[in-house]
Amino acid sequence: MSNISELTGDIRELAREKNAIILAHNYQIPEVQDVADLTGDSLALSIQASRTEADIIVFCGVHFMAEAASIICPDKKVLLPVPDAGCAMADMLSADELRAEKVRLPGVPVVTYVNSAAEVKAESDICCTSANAVQVVKSLRSPEVLMTPDRNLAMWTQRHTDQKIHYWDGYCPIHNDLTVAAVRKALEDHQGAVLMAHPECPPEVLDMADAVRSTSGMLAYVKESGRREFIVATENGLLYPLAKQNPEKKFYAASPDMVCKDMKKTGLEEILRALRSEEPVVTVEELVRKRAMKAVERMMAVPRD
Ligand code: 13P
Ligand code: SF4
Repeated sequence: MSNISELTGDIRELAREKNAIILAHNYQIPEVQDVADLTGDSLALSIQASRTEADIIVFCGVHFMAEAASIICPDKKVLLPVPDAGCAMADMLSADELRAEKVRLPGVPVVTYVNSAAEVKAESDICCTSANAVQVVKSLRSPEVLMTPDRNLAMWTQRHTDQKIHYWDGYCPIHNDLTVAAVRKALEDHQGAVLMAHPECPPEVLDMADAVRSTSGMLAYVKESGRREFIVATENGLLYPLAKQNPEKKFYAASPDMVCKDMKKTGLEEILRALRSEEPVVTVEELVRKRAMKAVERMMAVPRD
């Protein structure tokens, strides 16, 4: 038996014994996605965390995702197997900076992408993900909104609403570094392939895309499409579930450089260790949690298309 199948078996057994659920983001390494009870994008995983009856949630992703699970499920133990798995974009905005921005834009509602710290969510009116940003902004019916921390998601949302969108100047380095030249090369190398891009990519890349989607949005798009070849402009971890779910179709990375090292930190050994020791636990201070929860709940209440 290989090390992977042995570890996978041990993890599944222990998860059953401890009534734990394993959630993995679509960017996680293949064996982590395979051992998970559920894989998905940030929105799907938040919803799943809110519904689970498990006592323990093992979050295979990055810190803000485990924090979000802990905000939603304060009575559950939320484990983040690798505690320093962080998000460069989330680190670009602090609660102090957001408070200062709110003083500069009084009365303007704040829409915060889930890729953010709990304290930043607590300062926000409503959260959004890449799957629902446009619907969330429109639901506010306010002529102006402030979107944080991702400027690219904000600029993308601006294309779909007449509301004026102010934005914080943050970005995901992995998506933001994708150049038009790299995408052109991928299009030349794979002529006729459909280009899908994540809204964290820069506007000039989104201009070239046939479809702009969250990670789960891309999985759904491919499933429904009659086309056979796709160029994927997001973190390259998504290529694994795309190929697994669509063995008859072909997928190409828009650039080999689209790798988020934090998303690759979690392996099977770390998951097993976390399940055995029930550590490291991610918690959110109660006052912050309650305020952040309001922003998350408002997002959950926005109807999906
Ligand atoms: P989604 O899976 O929600 O599209 O998010 C992308 C991302 O960058 C998560 O870190
Ligand atoms: Fe953060 Fe970008 Fe990594 Fe997602 S891919 S966790 S947004 S740094």
